[in-house]
Amino acid sequence: EGSDAYDVSKLLGQTGRVTLDPGFVNTASCRSAITYIDGDAGILRYRGYPIEQLAEGSTFLETAYLLIYGELPTEAELDAFDARIRRHTLLHEDLRSFFAGFPRDAHPMPVLSSAVSALSTFYQDSLDPFDAEQVELSTVRLLAKLPTIAAYAHRKSMGQPLLYPDNNLSLVENFLRMSFGFPAEPYELDPVKVNALDQLLVLHADHEQNCSTSTVRMVGSSHANLFASVSAGINALFGPLHGGANQAVLTMLESIKADGGDVASFVRKVKDKDTGVRLMGFGHRVYKNYDPRAAIIKRTADQVLERLGQRDELLDIALELEQQALSDDYFFERKLYPNVDFYTGLIYRALGFPPKMFTVLFALGRLPGWIAQWREMIADPDLKIARPRQLYVGPTERDYVPAGRR
Ligand code: ACO
Repeated sequence: EGSDAYDVSKLLGQTGRVTLDPGFVNTASCRSAITYIDGDAGILRYRGYPIEQLAEGSTFLETAYLLIYGELPTEAELDAFDARIRRHTLLHEDLRSFFAGFPRDAHPMPVLSSAVSALSTFYQDSLDPFDAEQVELSTVRLLAKLPTIAAYAHRKSMGQPLLYPDNNLSLVENFLRMSFGFPAEPYELDPVKVNALDQLLVLHADHEQNCSTSTVRMVGSSHANLFASVSAGINALFGPLHGGANQAVLTMLESIKADGGDVASFVRKVKDKDTGVRLMGFGHRVYKNYDPRAAIIKRTADQVLERLGQRDELLDIALELEQQALSDDYFFERKLYPNVDFYTGLIYRALGFPPKMFTVLFALGRLPGWIAQWREMIADPDLKIARPRQLYVGPTERDYVPAGRR
């Protein structure tokens, strides 16, 4: 306002006020009753329940139910939900053949988003966002099929066979077997791995209006179906500043190790802004304190690596890096603390997943949150298509000049 360069009201193509808030740092896009975060106090709750209690006592399936339906299920409700999901784990045979079409070295995230997008073509009886039964069906289908799709994306990248789901197994057990088992060979489930993965999925299950969830809502606000909206969310999660950070953390730890494990010199590099190097797994738009999920995961990483006999140098580098950063003014002044991704990669690696799969595992965990947020939005009587305004800063009106006279 009052600028010599722009008449704001004209550039907006309207009169009246508009808020310019790049990155939506201070703009709420919706009302939500799902997840509560107090970033200064390091508090995270799903439907009012502290994340620490859910990580300790709940399971991924139960937490998914809580997020989507608003209350913890009774035993009978949880059993019925579980049974329903187990009935939908298979992919249509033609969808299975999609996996053959991608290049062998394809990153599994675009494979995942493409396959989820394709669900709209195979399951056309569950696309109406305003039909409660169809929404229920697409919810169950997505929850049941995403682990199968994710495991297939992994097998594809390894050049290994795709296994059919075994519905005697739980969602997490089934996912591990499809990811690592071989046809006609018994797959031995390791309870340490099953519990560690289950807990990681609980910790990722929702995080209010983050980039991918806002994307799911943005796409869904045009009344796009749940599969289309979630597919868009998966693509948003692919970026290195969001879900891609867990893979980036491991790459960073490996490069520090390759350079002789000199943590202090890496921290110096991060503090020199000209290098453009960031301490991956540190900092968060909302948490200006320790990310409560990082505190839980740090303990889990320690226990899991110990129990699997895989305690490695990368964990020691991570611990040293965290300690140096937390006692450094650069990080203190900017309130940069470890986020959820700082330690997850180490656990995923210990479970046997290659770094390319880490973000896929994040997507598996975040799915109940995306579904819950999409359903909350669709049920909102005040639902409006998301359509931000802009501040136009391009040329004012000018006349077209034919190519020969430019
Ligand atoms: N390493 C070094 N410096 C950092 C880092 C970092 N990881 N994160 C932020 N900073 C610095 C910035 O350079 C900036 O410094 P300045 O004030 O001197 O210019 C200041 O801290 C504020 O940073 P912003 O980029 O403005 O913070 P923003 O809220 O926009 O970014 C983000 C948050 C993207 C998470 C950022 O902290 C980051 O890039 N972290 C590394 C990537 C990462 O771990 N992402 C995972 C996020 S959690 C998740 O999606 C699950």
